[in-house]
Amino acid sequence: GCPRPDPSTTMRSFLSSQARAVSRSSPALAAPSRAFGQDSASVGLAAAAVAAAAIAGQQRQEEQAQCSPVAFIAAAAVSGGAAYYAKTTIDAETKLRDEAEAGKKAAEEKTALFEKYWPRKIMIIFGPPGAGKGTQAPKIESMLGIPQLSTGDMLRAAVSAKTPVGLQAKELMAAGKLVGDDVVCGIIKERIQNDDCKSGFILDGFPRTLPQSKALDAMLAENGEGVTKVVALEVPDSILEERITGRWIHKKSGRSYHVKFAPPKSMQLVDGKPDPASMLDDETGEPLMQRPDDTAAALVQRLKSYHSSTTPILKHYSPKGIVSGINANQKPSQVWSDLLSML
Ligand code: AP5
Ligand code: MG
Repeated sequence: GCPRPDPSTTMRSFLSSQARAVSRSSPALAAPSRAFGQDSASVGLAAAAVAAAAIAGQQRQEEQAQCSPVAFIAAAAVSGGAAYYAKTTIDAETKLRDEAEAGKKAAEEKTALFEKYWPRKIMIIFGPPGAGKGTQAPKIESMLGIPQLSTGDMLRAAVSAKTPVGLQAKELMAAGKLVGDDVVCGIIKERIQNDDCKSGFILDGFPRTLPQSKALDAMLAENGEGVTKVVALEVPDSILEERITGRWIHKKSGRSYHVKFAPPKSMQLVDGKPDPASMLDDETGEPLMQRPDDTAAALVQRLKSYHSSTTPILKHYSPKGIVSGINANQKPSQVWSDLLSML
């Protein structure tokens, strides 16, 4: 027979269970609440209610399609109240649809307010080559819904595409030397205008010199903004060679693997060494590669630049009270939980 639920209570409990399910399963809907705190929970819930109302409406139509008119008449004869029930159901649906529309509008208004007035999260993830910047930043990215901007990844893409910047950067990068300040500042200045940076971004590998820090501060100051957080991953130089020489990356996404500390699922050993043909990205199955600058010799040069040109940045931002150090010489999962508690 046809379902005979009490429309008001059943709809409400169905709606709230759908709202919970939607906010659990949809990071896109859940992200604003996590990013901005309690006030934006209403944004996520209102958006979830919109989705839930759509699902509820569709389910109701399917239920009713299964009920033949004869079945409805028979049911009316038995209960004597089917007409009243049907009207109540339609009223409840209309009310729900109106509420969902109002919720959607409220969510859009709040989102616009956040994007206009809330300070953007402008984070620098800082550390020597192999510290774990590229390992940890994507986790912050997926948690807060703000992009990781790695100048190293952008320059590698330019090298692959043989753009003028790429041709200029190729040799310098392979030797572990820094690319010119003007080039990287230009890349970042353009990139942070993109729509996905509206709520903030995570800088990985930039700024890398004091002039780059000052250029960044100036471009942010144009909108009355500044860097809001610097997370410094602390690791002794002595452990970095093993991390760097054992690293394999997925070029398109920048995902990092390590033959010992974070092997891809597909890795096969031949005579105790990884078979290059078996080094595939876990997510896409595409081949991994080793970076030309991931050699012991280039690392010496990279560390030299890091200590002489890059570490002074910490002194530059420290007086603002935004620098936090993290012990990155521990398991990646432990580094992440320390980072989380600091965020
Ligand atoms: P870039 O790509 O930024 O390289 P980098 O700063 O040298 O840093 P890495 O990417 O090597 O290290 P990471 O901290 O990301 O480590 P990861 O997480 O992968 O720059 C490359 C070059 O581009 C520069 O040398 C320069 O030429 C140029 N460039 C870029 N930006 C520039 C700028 N602003 N100005 C001028 N020039 C610029 O981890 C490393 C390995 O360790 C991985 O295999 C990983 O799986 C493993 N690992 C990570 N964490 C752990 C852990 N906790 N325990 C064990 N293993 C771990
Ligand atoms: Mg990196």
